[in-house]
Amino acid sequence: MRILVTGAAGFIASRLMYELKLRGHEVTGVDNFNSYYDVRLKHARCREFGLDVRPLDISDKAALDSLFAECGFDKVVNLAAQAGVRYSIEAPYAYLQSNLTGFLNILEAGRNYGVKHLVYASSSSVYGLNAKIPYSEADKTDSPASLYAATKKSNELMAHAYCSLYGIAMTGLRYFTVYGPWGRPDMAPMLFARAIIKGEPIKVFNGGDMMRDFTFIDDIVAGTVACVESEPVPEESGRRFRVYNIGCGHPVKLLDFISELEKALGIKAVPEYLPMQKGDVYQTYADTSLLEAETGYKPRVLLPEGIGAFARWYKSEKNPLRDL
Ligand SMILES: NC(=O)c1ccc[n+]([C@@H]2O[C@H](COP(=O)([O-])OP(=O)(O)OC[C@H]3O[C@@H](n4cnc5c(N)ncnc54)[C@H](O)[C@@H]3O)[C@@H](O)[C@H]2O)c1
Repeated sequence: MRILVTGAAGFIASRLMYELKLRGHEVTGVDNFNSYYDVRLKHARCREFGLDVRPLDISDKAALDSLFAECGFDKVVNLAAQAGVRYSIEAPYAYLQSNLTGFLNILEAGRNYGVKHLVYASSSSVYGLNAKIPYSEADKTDSPASLYAATKKSNELMAHAYCSLYGIAMTGLRYFTVYGPWGRPDMAPMLFARAIIKGEPIKVFNGGDMMRDFTFIDDIVAGTVACVESEPVPEESGRRFRVYNIGCGHPVKLLDFISELEKALGIKAVPEYLPMQKGDVYQTYADTSLLEAETGYKPRVLLPEGIGAFARWYKSEKNPLRDL
């Protein structure tokens, strides 16, 4: 299969591109290598996984169209996005450019160049201020708590429109707090590990009273591969449109996460307790039964094992940010 992976120098997509290539697919990866976080990590991932990622911005319609014309993709996996809840308060327009204009360009290219199936990253943040747990795909998702979440929900709606209009099969994946080796420096595991090792205080929001359904990168990649390699089960209407939760289903208290990380690093953290941040939600908890039933997905890695793998990578010389 000829597959385009966008955001291919990123945390999830670099591993995904590697796995898809191992499985014999013809994979093209693109990324704009932006500086939202240290670009050395993006280049190091490409080196580690032997990826040849082309520099391309999905908000550049002409460049994207010529790539589609040149390569004729069967499937597209769109993971390129401006990620991060907190940064969407500081830099809202970055989210419009990559997550809305960029995503529309992907949809239009899919329509004009005969793509059969688009798999795209949504997010657990679409559940916003919902109180009911675990989050199920049947729950309402109309109360986003951040612009980031609003753009991810918009992606699901835009995908639905293009599925109805042009029959492109669509699979949206609501990822739940992904962690592991080669992770993102703006997310808690990397921020905490860095501060703990340097003996600096770690910022613990809402006094640590928060729950997150931390999901290990290997499980996320396995679930995404299963979706890429299958066709979405049709809805009653016959439209091939699916949105899945992809999480671990084992939410963990933030303070328990911190003590697991302390154990793995062998160093005690210095907590600095702070109030809840704007845009954050109290808890996330995935009901993954739909994805399990339709693709055989089964999260396998629980926190102690996953944090151990993360800490070993963090301290190794493979981590280009280790000594910063
Ligand atoms: N990591 C998580 O916990 C998590 C949770 C929910 C959803 N997601 C979503 O999953 C996807 C991948 O996330 P990640 O954690 O790997 O993030 P990441 O930031 O590591 O990866 C995204 C990549 O996309 C690239 N990119 C951004 N804008 C682009 C553009 N306009 N054109 C081309 N490339 C562009 C970036 O350079 C980056 O390498 C994103 O869509 C994110 O919103 C991630």
